Amino acid sequence: MQLIDGKAIAAQIKKEIAEEVTIIKANGGKTPHLVAVLVGHDGGSETYVSNKVRTCEEVGFKSTLIRYESDVTEEEILACVEKLNKDADVDGFIVQLPLPKHISEEKVIEAIDYRKDVDGFHPINVGRMSIGLPCFVSATPAGIVELLKRYNIPTQGKNCVVLGRSNIVGKPIAGLMMQKGYPGDATVTVCHSRTPNIKEICLEADIIIAAMGVPEFLKGDMVKEGVTVIDVGTTRVPSTETKSGFKLKGDVAFDEVVAKAGFITPVPGGVGPMTIISLMRNTLLAGKKEIYK
Ligand code: GUN
Repeated sequence: MQLIDGKAIAAQIKKEIAEEVTIIKANGGKTPHLVAVLVGHDGGSETYVSNKVRTCEEVGFKSTLIRYESDVTEEEILACVEKLNKDADVDGFIVQLPLPKHISEEKVIEAIDYRKDVDGFHPINVGRMSIGLPCFVSATPAGIVELLKRYNIPTQGKNCVVLGRSNIVGKPIAGLMMQKGYPGDATVTVCHSRTPNIKEICLEADIIIAAMGVPEFLKGDMVKEGVTVIDVGTTRVPSTETKSGFKLKGDVAFDEVVAKAGFITPVPGGVGPMTIISLMRNTLLAGKKEIYK
């Protein structure tokens, strides 16, 4: 069994990005600039956004955090998006989700200029990804693909089971795994809450990507020997063991599955650290105008 060390890979990629930024700056190029828009004070969102802003500083990007109270109107957020779309100093921006119920996430995402959509959530980026055109790939699927690549995990002709059909993870990673080339060329099955025989399907899988958001859903008796397991789950459960009062639980019963797995990601320290790094990479690509002119 080999543990997939997302933390170490993320640290290495962070170094690679920082080195590239140093060269860009030394050559008089523009410092990549990421803006994050945060509405309200949700604990998870606060943590994610502050990690994103901190990582920007660590790789040498410029970053700006724009905050709104949760009673902000949809019009105000759309006006903010419009302003960021037009601001030539801003290479990429994200609006942290979830948004309060009175604001349509779809409307906000569609209002973002797809050339600055470093989250890869805009329908143009989602559509281009699904037909294999250059685009911003959303952070979590991009992070998973990078882990598979860096560990040289074979995917061609393999049975890949994706657990979960979210727009942010399940659907895009299923699309990437079935695409031509590496890491792709897999035979992909997507299971979700209405799939009746998940255990039988998982027992046939060479690769399982668990992204249902159900803590410890994937048990030891649901996997075959040698399986590669990528755990995307990050459910916060109360804990007396940590300072924060909670701990992250994955979608995989790690202690059971690890005994059979060929490769497995831990939670925390697996996919999580890769997602922020993928956002940094997209911001670098946006700064360099490498995907869209
Ligand atoms: N909320 C949870 N994950 C994400 C993400 O990757 N981007 C944004 N904008 N919001 C999120």
